[in-house]
Amino acid sequence: MNTSAFINTITHTLPQKATYTWQTPSNIALVKYWGKSNPQIPKNTSISFTLNNCHTITTIEFIKKAPEEIKDQNIDFELYFEGKKKDEFKPKITEFFKRILTYCPYILEYNMTIRSKNSFPHSSGIASSASGMSAIAVCLMSLEKEINPNLSTDFFNKKASFLARLGSGSACRSIEGPIVIWGKHPKIKESSDLYGVKFPYKIHPIFEEYQDTILLVDKGEKQVSSTVGHNLMHEHPYAENRFIQANQNIENIITILEKGDIKAFINLVESEALTLHAMMLTSNPYFILIKPNTLKIINTIWAYRQEKNSNICFTLDAGANVHVLYPKNEKEEVEKLITDKLSKYCEKNHYICDNVGFGAKQL
Ligand code: PMV
Repeated sequence: MNTSAFINTITHTLPQKATYTWQTPSNIALVKYWGKSNPQIPKNTSISFTLNNCHTITTIEFIKKAPEEIKDQNIDFELYFEGKKKDEFKPKITEFFKRILTYCPYILEYNMTIRSKNSFPHSSGIASSASGMSAIAVCLMSLEKEINPNLSTDFFNKKASFLARLGSGSACRSIEGPIVIWGKHPKIKESSDLYGVKFPYKIHPIFEEYQDTILLVDKGEKQVSSTVGHNLMHEHPYAENRFIQANQNIENIITILEKGDIKAFINLVESEALTLHAMMLTSNPYFILIKPNTLKIINTIWAYRQEKNSNICFTLDAGANVHVLYPKNEKEEVEKLITDKLSKYCEKNHYICDNVGFGAKQL
């Protein structure tokens, strides 16, 4: 599929009024996306677990404009976050709407009211762009489906992911679950740089119930945004090798996920997390997002794993928080480790218990 497949030409009558509510999850990458070209095209393939409890719920109300209002070709919307009008969030969403205008020209015909809330605290250091952007994308697709009821579920999901990607790259992995791949890869013929697809091979049951406890080491705003970080990969001395390594890791993880090879999973996932941060350390300008407590947690996890022969491991996204990953059958012991030894490294002892989920849900 190329981008032209996603262009909507309005051929059907548009409804006067419509309201849709969707819940979309966050996701955590196992093989990381870091480095892109325009417009949001990844330099390597990435793969993620879709989460369950960390999600955004968004309602969009569409009210058809009067014909004289449409002539101005303005994108008109109001935005409320957790019940409060948030004009400071509008520029990012306006930019997103501008990027998708070719694909969703009908948005010019509506006054839109967007109401959004997150299941996780806004200032938790958890990026809300993946769940936030994917929620807007599926609401738009619901309108598109009403305009054109013949849309297949496959097209609906692909275009929702395609639109979400234009809002925030990793958001394209938040439409389906439990595991999503984004970025063209020779071993996955359905894969695309334009949208995420469900992992097309068999998944060992252990990974369908995987647990992710997010240790909130630092709830503040990141000092370096992921947009800046991605851009620093352009002149990065190790970038080309990193992209080759990531694509090789995708090939390896296909077999790991099929076979349920947890030891190999742990090795690959932790190496990916540390490599992501190594890219940050070796960018120019260089930067560090992990904190002393991130390292204390990692060392505690390693010591515990060795002592107990546990299958606990960690991954990181672009921040200091630690995602602790483990199979469901080790939940009790890991919860004990977290309360006894790890939560003390979290801001206000806060952490979020999550697990692998199945994607966007219409409410
Ligand atoms: O989607 P962005 O532009 O916020 O980039 C996300 C990058 C990482 O979270 C670090 C990795 C990933 O694949 O999600």
